[in-house]
Amino acid sequence: MVWKNDQVSEGETVRILETARKCLGVPGDFVELGCYKGDTSLMLADVLENSNKKLWIYDSFEGLPEKKSQDESLLGEPFKKGELSVSKREVKERFLRAGLKVPVIKKGWFSDLTTEDLPEKIAFCFLDGDFYDSIRDGLKVINEKMARNGVIMVHDYLNPALPGVKTAVSEWLKDKPSLKIETFESLIKISINN
Ligand SMILES: C[S@@+](CC[C@H](N)C(=O)[O-])C[C@H]1O[C@@H](n2cnc3c(N)ncnc32)[C@H](O)[C@@H]1O
Repeated sequence: MVWKNDQVSEGETVRILETARKCLGVPGDFVELGCYKGDTSLMLADVLENSNKKLWIYDSFEGLPEKKSQDESLLGEPFKKGELSVSKREVKERFLRAGLKVPVIKKGWFSDLTTEDLPEKIAFCFLDGDFYDSIRDGLKVINEKMARNGVIMVHDYLNPALPGVKTAVSEWLKDKPSLKIETFESLIKISINN
């Protein structure tokens, strides 16, 4: 089911959910770094309803951090420090209202996360942090946790308003030439096939 999603296009949402469903057979849990109000998180929780996998979602709950030079773009003017702020309690209440299992919800900056804040193994990870540092820090912390045949999807990889996302992903991919990548609208899908 695709519900209303303010942050991700309908086509992208369909692609994310299709991919997540395919990861139900991969060992490990689902992770979303940058959940905001939880629009995509609710749909991922729905995908997981009859499985024994858990959903883990992360956000500063203080909105976006400071931009870095890698993020500079005239089109990206509206993305400012503190934008997209929501409370952790509001997000939790949305799951309760929807009658869905409440995920593990962690508040904090991605730069402060350690592998202990993450599940043992990750089958599917959605990264949606908008900025260079956020994507770089997210990829760094999930790296060792990704299961074989798991998938990482990064939003805004091809969004000219948020150029830091592509820079961070490209740097991370540099020493991983065997990983299979595909793009769809602004998304990049990275399959962990080695
Ligand atoms: C575009 S929104 C996420 C939208 C959400 N994935 C969805 O599908 O509805 C980006 C979120 O990432 C969070 N964020 C960005 N950089 C972060 C960082 N470095 N640490 C923690 N949270 C961060 C922001 O607070 C914001 O809520």
